[in-house]
Parts: sequence; C-alpha cells; structure tokens
Amino acid sequence: MAQRIEHPGASAYLPDASGAGLDELAVAVQHCRGCNLYEDATQAVFGTGLRHARIMLVGEQPGDVEDRAGAPFVGPAGGVLDDALGEAGLARADVYLTNAVKHFRWRTSPRGKRRIHERPTTGQMVACRPWLEAEFTAVQPSLVVALGATAVSSLFGPSVGLTASRGRELRWHDCPAVATIHPSAVLRVPDSDDRAETYRGLVDDLRSAQTLLET
Ligand code: URA
Ligand code: SF4
Repeated sequence: MAQRIEHPGASAYLPDASGAGLDELAVAVQHCRGCNLYEDATQAVFGTGLRHARIMLVGEQPGDVEDRAGAPFVGPAGGVLDDALGEAGLARADVYLTNAVKHFRWRTSPRGKRRIHERPTTGQMVACRPWLEAEFTAVQPSLVVALGATAVSSLFGPSVGLTASRGRELRWHDCPAVATIHPSAVLRVPDSDDRAETYRGLVDDLRSAQTLLET
C-alpha cells in the first residue's frame, strides 16, 4: 500500500539548496506551502537576530502575538525569554532567535473569541525543518539551544524528549547543543514559588550553556 504523504515539506520553496542568505530566506518563507499551516496563519514568522550569532535559540512556533507582528518571541513568552537571557548575561541582540515551525498552529476557543495555540504535529515539524537547517547554515552558530519539547523533537527526532535531553551535552549537525524548558512553561506554573524556581532553571541552563562555547 502506498504511504500517504501528509505534507510535501518546505524543500521545494527554499531559494537555493545551498547557501541562501537570511534575507533571501525570509522573503521566500512567505511563499512556503510545505504543510497546511500557512492556510490559517497571518504570515510566516522567520528568525531574527545577529547574523552570525554564536548562539542560535530555537523555540516552537509563533504564538498569537508573533503571528500578527511577524517577529518571534514578542509576546508573553518573549518577555520571559528576554528576562532570562539578561540574567544569564546575554541580550536578544547577541543571539539568533527562531522557531522550529514558522507558521502559527491554532484552533478557535470554545466561544470563538480567541485563537488557542496547538502544538505542531511531527509531520509539520519535519515539513518545516528545511528552513531551520537553512538558517543554521547561514548563521553558523557555535551553540544551538532548543527551547522546549517541540524544538527538541524537531532537532533530535520525535522520540527524543525534553526530560531525557535537558542538562546533557548534545550535538546537532556537529554543533554543540543543549535543551532547556520553553519560556512559556514558566508562565504556566500556577504557584508563584514554583514559578520562580522554574524560571531559575531556565536562567541556569542558559548560563551553563555558554560554557560550551569555545573561547
Ligand atoms: N513561543 C515560541 O516558541 N516562539 C515564539 O516565537 C513565541 C512563542
Ligand atoms: Fe512552510 Fe513551515 Fe509554514 Fe509549513 S509551517 S507552510 S513548512 S513555513
């Protein structure tokens, strides 16, 4: 029986299989039809930041705010990330920041008033990965940081979980890599003490990740 191809993937939409620049990629991604997510999103949200940053941070996908604004991590999770980067001695301007999936996946809330985030499927992550690979090739970072379980699955495979990979020295395409929690996980913790502890964990991970940078 022939296998059903769920999503064609982004490869056909990349400007050039090898060596496209970030500006060129950011234009091309707006025309991507590599999976179905472009249909219900406002726009693709491409990575931003330092062109040849030493650290490339990978989130999940744009959220509601990012989908409208066209930039990654500019909503509530972005606020947490900015604070955590600052405490770890980094600024957003020092890093390259992107997502595993470039279009917002959402469903309508029960009363139809809000767009509720939905985690991208494995098929959608795989479909979108050529954009991430192209960003990696263009930026040539010395360290990749996966923020949360979706980024971990996208980078290291669908069966690799965050718990098993957090605190380990990983590699992605021969580049040192680490995994930590997603900043939105901090926002989801109801108790304020627990939330502060979760946030500290994110800061500590971002701080210790930098020790993997070759000096
Ligand atoms: N969450 C993400 O993973 N990425 C964003 O850009 C915003 C929220
Ligand atoms: Fe293309 Fe990724 Fe958007 Fe899917 S989510 S249409 S693969 S850019």
